[in-house]
Amino acid sequence: MPLVTTRQLLDEAAKGGYGVGAFNVNDMEQIQAIMEAAKETSSPVIIQASRGARKFAQDNYLYHLMLAAAELYPEIPLAMHLDHGNGFDTCVSAIKLGFTSVMMDGSLKEDGKTPTTFEENVEVTKKVCDYAHERGISVEGEIGVLGGIEDGHGAGGSGLDHVTDPDQAVEFAERTGVDSLAIAIGTSHGAYKFTKKPDGSVLKMDLLIAIHKRLPNTHLVMHGSSSVPKDLQDIINQYGGKLKETWGVPVEEIQLGIKNGVRKINVDTDNRLAITGAIRKVFAESPEKFDPRDYLTPARAAMQKVVAQRMTQFGQAGHAGDYKAVSIPEMAKGYANGSLSTQPLVATK
Ligand code: G3H
Ligand code: 13P
Ligand code: ZN
Repeated sequence: MPLVTTRQLLDEAAKGGYGVGAFNVNDMEQIQAIMEAAKETSSPVIIQASRGARKFAQDNYLYHLMLAAAELYPEIPLAMHLDHGNGFDTCVSAIKLGFTSVMMDGSLKEDGKTPTTFEENVEVTKKVCDYAHERGISVEGEIGVLGGIEDGHGAGGSGLDHVTDPDQAVEFAERTGVDSLAIAIGTSHGAYKFTKKPDGSVLKMDLLIAIHKRLPNTHLVMHGSSSVPKDLQDIINQYGGKLKETWGVPVEEIQLGIKNGVRKINVDTDNRLAITGAIRKVFAESPEKFDPRDYLTPARAAMQKVVAQRMTQFGQAGHAGDYKAVSIPEMAKGYANGSLSTQPLVATK
């Protein structure tokens, strides 16, 4: 299947009542792991690259690897998404390269650290939506700010510092026309999210449900959604790693989110943990080995296992064959003639 938009994937997910995992990549092995997991579970999938990934891999490598994935797995609906775009120019450069979907993270200034005002966020996100929709490309916005810092990106602090205000979420969705909306409900990026299994005081599922009630037709996005499983932490520490005890987002909470409008779930850290554990194991058990394939093969398999498990848990498994790709020019027509209206249906309080 040619690359499709996240708007199409998420509209289909809403119809089917499931969520779609969006997995971060930086290299070929990660893309291969995701595509094999998608094939194994017959899942539509979103592959996403951050600014850090684009710098690490270089745009052209990433783009052509994605094209190879689309070519090799014609049965899998696949969207290529920019994660945490930090400004209009970054989003435009991704669209010009061939990304079918971009995130304009206007919750932070271009430095990727300082929270913006609501008006600044609306202004830049709307500008990206106007540009992207004219070209048939989907846009994810963010209202509220996540905790933690990844690769220099993030406001730092706890996930509870700037949770989403439901009134602002409604106004933001109406004024920008985003296709999907990332909300802050207490999660943060990276491995160190919670110091104990999260309860309602740190993971605000009630807030998510309140936002969904007000914006029943808006696709919600959960960032910082790695579950940081204990077994993956243990493998790393068993083979010489030094991870401190930590908790992620329980899969049951994500599943509750999916019942309440969450359609895109961002996962990166769990895959990083799986890859690192598998490589450490080979290094510790077979220190004589030096062919990268000896440790990249189990690393890729470990990531595939995590991704396949998430695809099943999020409910996207089995849905790859439900629909045909809508072309990007067709999507552009839909935005222009109003059939892909992005005005959310807003429920009363
Ligand atoms: O947003 C966070 C993702 O895990 C990407 O992380 O910016 O280190 O590539 P990164
Ligand atoms: P994790 O660090 O929880 O995997 O979150 C990834 C993410 O939100 C990417 O945008
Ligand atoms: Zn994120």
